[in-house]
This record gives sequence, C-alpha cells and structure tokens, in this order.
Amino acid sequence: MKTQLRSSRVVIIGTGAVGATTAYTLLLRERISELVLIDANKEKALGEALDMNHGLPFTGGVKLWAGDYSDCADADIIVIAAGASQRPGETRIDLLKRNAGIFDSIIQNIVKYNNHGIILVATNPVDILSYVTLKKSGFPTNRVIGSGTLLDSARFRYLIGQNKKINPRSIHAHIIGEHGDSEVPLWSLANVAGIGLEFNEQEREEIFNSTKNAAYEIINAKGATSYAIALALDRIIVSILQNEGSVLNVSTLLTDYNGVSDVYLGVPSIVDRTGVRQVLDLQLGDAELTQFQASANKLKSEIANLEL
Ligand code: 2OP
Repeated sequence: MKTQLRSSRVVIIGTGAVGATTAYTLLLRERISELVLIDANKEKALGEALDMNHGLPFTGGVKLWAGDYSDCADADIIVIAAGASQRPGETRIDLLKRNAGIFDSIIQNIVKYNNHGIILVATNPVDILSYVTLKKSGFPTNRVIGSGTLLDSARFRYLIGQNKKINPRSIHAHIIGEHGDSEVPLWSLANVAGIGLEFNEQEREEIFNSTKNAAYEIINAKGATSYAIALALDRIIVSILQNEGSVLNVSTLLTDYNGVSDVYLGVPSIVDRTGVRQVLDLQLGDAELTQFQASANKLKSEIANLEL
C-alpha cells in the first residue's frame, strides 16, 4: 500500500507541458493529499484541473483545484514550471532573459504567503533560475532546489541500459553540472552492482551525445519534453515528503565544491524533508574536474549579467 503523507500540499505554478504532466503524474502516484494549479492564464489552469478531476473516480483521493498564490500559504512544496520553453534550435540559456523576467513577480507572490516550504524550480535555464530564486526569495539554500541533472542522469542510465541490456534502474551513473550543453558525464563512476562499466570511445560518444541532445531531439519531434521531467519532479517531491534521504542529482548551491562556489549545478545530493540535506563529495577525474569547472564558469558569466 502506498503511504500518503497526511495533509501534504504541492502547488504547481505554470500549467504548460511540464507543469500539467507533473500534476497528472502526482495524481496517478497518489502520494500527496492536495494539489493546486496556478497559471497566469487562469482558464488554462481551470481546464487542466477540471480534466484531471474527472479522472478522480479512477484514481485516489487527491484534492486538486486551480487556485491562486494565497494557496501557497499551506504548501509543503511549490514547483515553478512557468515560462517560455525552447523552440526548435534554441538552447536553454536562450530562455534566460524571457524567463528571469517573470521570476520577479512569481517569487514575490510566493514569499508573500509562504516562508516555510520548499521551492522546486523546473523552468529553464534551471540552474540559473534556481540561483535567481534563492537570491530573490531569501529562503535558505536547502529549501531552494532545481531539478538539475536528474533528468539527464535518467537519460544517461536509460541509454547505458540499452547498450548493456540491463534495466536502467540497476545502472548507477551520473551527469553533473549544467542541465544543458556543458553537462558532464561521470564515466569513472558508472557501475552495476559496484562493478565498473567498460565502453569504447565510440560508445561513450554516442551515449553522451544522445543524453545531452535528448531534449533537442524530442523538441524537434513533438515540440516539448514532458513525461520524463514530470517523473523526475515526482521523484524529488516524494523524496522530500517521505523524508527518504534519496541521492538525486538535483541542482543546489555549491560552496567550495571541487573548486566551484556561488553557483547552482546538478550534483548528487541527499534529499529529505529538509530539502537538500547534504551534497555528496565526488572524486572527479582530471578531465571531469576541468569540464565541471567550465560548466560552472559558463553559468557564472550568465549570472553576472543579471540584476539580482
Ligand atoms: C529537457 O531536458 C527541455 O530541459 C528540458 O527535457
């Protein structure tokens, strides 16, 4: 039987492909008790809520409605999935100006009603917007989390699983750094049951390129990504609400971490009811360290141009 936390409320801001699919995923999983949808386009949130509510006779007892920012008052977790998404050919960083602009009012509206919850950022570029959220909200670091490279790591594990003909759940492998073009594959840590995995150069190149370019491929094919990110967000939400202490590659503020400080990047982190409880120390190879620091520097130079 699923354990549902008594009175756990999740608010999702932005009911586009990612927000609406995340809501649907949470509904099917039945691990939360209340789900609120907020969108600048109130009609869209109402329509999504209505459509999902009509499915309740087939699922469980999640109470779901289209609300407003005052509903953040009792929220345990507030997911930000609002903003523009990539058009074919655009990078995630290309979205920065457009999406940073709307974060001002979103964060102001959240903190007006809530100072105790956890903010989970999914809008791209997710690492930079998580940093923006931290600065603008005044929340403690542990309670501002970005979806980071959890999705990229899932894609990596899936592709390695395909290559080795092993279920991706049994593959341990990590992508760290930017959720985007400068992300870093940790081949040195990829393993099954603690046994390292061997790949030739061509396999590495193919697996990593398919991981890194997955979103471009999907956006070209169907306009947006939604299912895997929704499952990744559900994973983070459940790890928080059930106080799991799962290790997830979320985006978090790094301080003196492998030579990197004052930037949000995806790294293996212990996630529980407090949010990010601890970032795990990683032993990176020389090339991995160089790439990780380059990823940090890329994002820091973008952040330097923002008014925070
Ligand atoms: C993804 O990787 C577009 O960031 C989104 O699916």
